[in-house]
Amino acid sequence: MNRKSRILKVMMPLASVFLMTLMSCSQEIPTDLAKANLIPRPVSVSATGESFTVKQNTGIYVMDDNPEVAEAAAFLSALLKPLTGYGIEVKKGSGEVPAGNIVLSVEDGLDTGKEGYILDISKKQVSVKAETPAGLFYAVQTIRQLLPAAVESSSPANGPVKIATGVINDRPVYGYRGSMLDVSRHFFSVEDVKRYVDFLAAYKMNVLHLHLSDDQGWRIEIKSWPSLALHGGSKEVGGGEGGYYTQEQYTDIVNYAAARHITVIPEIDMPGHTNAALASYAELNKNKKATELYTGTEVGFSSLDTRSELTYKFIDDVIRELAAITPGEYLHIGGDESHSTKKDDYIYFMNRVQDIVSAYGKKVLAWDEIALATVKPGTIAQVWASVENANLAVGQGAKVLMSPAKKAYLDMQYHKDTPLGLHWAGYIEVDTAYIWDPATYIPGIDQEDIVGVEAPLWSETVTNIDEVEFMVFPRLPGYAEIGWTPAALRNWDEYKLRLAAHGERFSAAGIDYYASEKVPWPATK
Ligand code: ACM
Repeated sequence: MNRKSRILKVMMPLASVFLMTLMSCSQEIPTDLAKANLIPRPVSVSATGESFTVKQNTGIYVMDDNPEVAEAAAFLSALLKPLTGYGIEVKKGSGEVPAGNIVLSVEDGLDTGKEGYILDISKKQVSVKAETPAGLFYAVQTIRQLLPAAVESSSPANGPVKIATGVINDRPVYGYRGSMLDVSRHFFSVEDVKRYVDFLAAYKMNVLHLHLSDDQGWRIEIKSWPSLALHGGSKEVGGGEGGYYTQEQYTDIVNYAAARHITVIPEIDMPGHTNAALASYAELNKNKKATELYTGTEVGFSSLDTRSELTYKFIDDVIRELAAITPGEYLHIGGDESHSTKKDDYIYFMNRVQDIVSAYGKKVLAWDEIALATVKPGTIAQVWASVENANLAVGQGAKVLMSPAKKAYLDMQYHKDTPLGLHWAGYIEVDTAYIWDPATYIPGIDQEDIVGVEAPLWSETVTNIDEVEFMVFPRLPGYAEIGWTPAALRNWDEYKLRLAAHGERFSAAGIDYYASEKVPWPATK
């Protein structure tokens, strides 16, 4: 072989790789906004067939002095910087913004509601408008999903990126779109909880319900009753070391969530599910003897002494301290599975505790059993098990939060061979989790009775963040869509294609998801 043909032999494959790369890049230029795999599906998308390029000199202009608008802009900048390798800056804008930039503004009269937004992408500019900073934040999450999957990865993928042009006009159906994390059965660190918050934020969910106390562990520092956390928080299911959040750590979680437009709702479960408290203070027990710490998974054996004044002094102290570190409107008082509390005592207790919460300026959320008591004005019943309780609550004029265990429990196994989770409410495959509508799930309970949807993750079998991810993904985006998107726009056969496209995003984010056979994942998974 002469020198020339040797060079050709070496160069040809390189050239074809180069060409193929060019071709695949050009094929990937997004020009059809209607084909974007957005979850939750927006209310309306109209495509205009071109693309906007984020370049070296693209900036994000903030048209208001509102610091929360600047926060939404900073969030977008933090996504774009590693993705592009450019120093995408946040700038204060006024009047005309030059072409090539992203512009965020809060305006009245858009008719987008408290959380909606209008995202208008042209070849020249990305314009994001909303009536509130929350709306802007959700628009930023939409832009995030229009960017390549590498946006979810911490490793840099330098260069310009393109997004398809068009207009998205979007707003949620329900004001409450949440998930619960049980940090009592197994304890999760502040970092783990923040990662959970990140999962919710990416799918426009706005509530993190933290199940902070149960038989197996008390997870929040109460300064006036220190043994609750020190002793009651010392173990977890299986007998391992537990843990608790100091009030400062808890506040750190609350602030981290608030910056992502997520409200934390703390739950102290009572009068049942209280063994950790009963083990920490002998005087809370009817027989004045402290119980042993419990690391099993039975339910229904513990109860506070509902006729003791000391119990209400204890609850008053706990609620006072918790209310002081809770900027959100709601405190969750549990009330489920109090099988060792007599019915009369339960009713007396739940009525009295609702008044305590109200005295500290907060509203009550409680599991659906609260409907057996008087559901006081403003109290929300969280429907998990009983249609009868749901009807009793609505019959008393209350609103309900929909978390039916058979559909919405993230701790249920996907099917009988998946390794984690329980199945007392059934197996919940990804399609089962998606195919239901809160507004028709219980006949007679309509959309106007419902504040929203919450998917709880109980942690009897879930011991670390990798296992959390396996249970939560890929079901969580479906719950987010049920809470956000009008039922008429939801359809499993179409949704599963969008969900499949998110597999690449989960992988880029390092999420250990369950690759369900129900979802047509791309061949790489
Ligand atoms: C519950 O699952 N015990 C609310």
